[in-house]
Amino acid sequence: MKPSIILYKALPEDLAHRLTEHFTVTQVPNLQPETVEQYADAFANAEGLLGSTEQVGSELLAKMPKLRAASTISVGYDAFDVDALNAKKILLMHTPTVLTETVADTIMALVLSSARRVVEVAERVKKGEWTKGIGPDWFGVDVHHKTLGIIGMGRIGLAVAQRAHFGFGMPILYNARRQHEEAETRFQARYCDLDSLLKESDFVVLVLPYSEQTHHLINAEKFAIMKSSAIFINAGRGAVVDENAMIDALKNGEIHAAGLDVFEQEPLSVDSPLLTLPNVVAVPHIGSATHETRYGMAACAVENLIDALNGRVEKNCVNPQVAP
Ligand code: DGY
Repeated sequence: MKPSIILYKALPEDLAHRLTEHFTVTQVPNLQPETVEQYADAFANAEGLLGSTEQVGSELLAKMPKLRAASTISVGYDAFDVDALNAKKILLMHTPTVLTETVADTIMALVLSSARRVVEVAERVKKGEWTKGIGPDWFGVDVHHKTLGIIGMGRIGLAVAQRAHFGFGMPILYNARRQHEEAETRFQARYCDLDSLLKESDFVVLVLPYSEQTHHLINAEKFAIMKSSAIFINAGRGAVVDENAMIDALKNGEIHAAGLDVFEQEPLSVDSPLLTLPNVVAVPHIGSATHETRYGMAACAVENLIDALNGRVEKNCVNPQVAP
């Protein structure tokens, strides 16, 4: 008999078909308590779980006593209570590598659009304000050859460094848990402690995952250290930054501008003060959101679940130590 799984995200047809070759699939709209109640038998019998974004904690796991593996269509896995999974020896699979280049492209788009005010001036053109040769009130600031500080030198940090170094001639500073030889030899990146990076960078790019250790790592004190001309980019997780402190820093001119793909609450509330600030480019967590990459991530997550439920955890497994 095929193992049963719960699918909580719509998949392209061919990938949904691939799943049914291996599993009996129950597709549900979300993981909310009402849904779990409605599909109680399917949750009770599921050995696998596949989807993204929704929170998976001990309450849900209690309803899934047979669960052996969860596969998320994302590189980040902060939506999962990893300790609870470990305690129950449930494997957690994720999708690193496949989205690296796409997220790095998004980060460069945020760097360029914040510095050159692309969104703001394009809106002004649409409103009919381009009626004569433009003056300084339309100008941005240069990107090329400015100093870029990267906080978190993982795969994505490295791909950003490559673009910035070769494409824009930018000196690279970085802060990470350890020094990164490849970044230093290929892109002449210089390792810095966090405060020195914040002090010296023209662009600060944050690509850290969320954890208890990174919660509000960038707070009022850190914004105060940055240059008043600094542009801050967050493409990691919203709660790594104290959003209220960032709003104050943007309002008070402690930093020049921000390009944001992630927020403390997503979707971002329409009432967020961030949306009233002209020096903010806010996009809806589009880091990996291209047709090609989202397909690649979904395909990777499908294969990951097949692998995990067949005892293969050599790649893309967050907690291989719990494998049977
Ligand atoms: C991830 O996969 O965790 C990214 O945030 C999606 O863009």
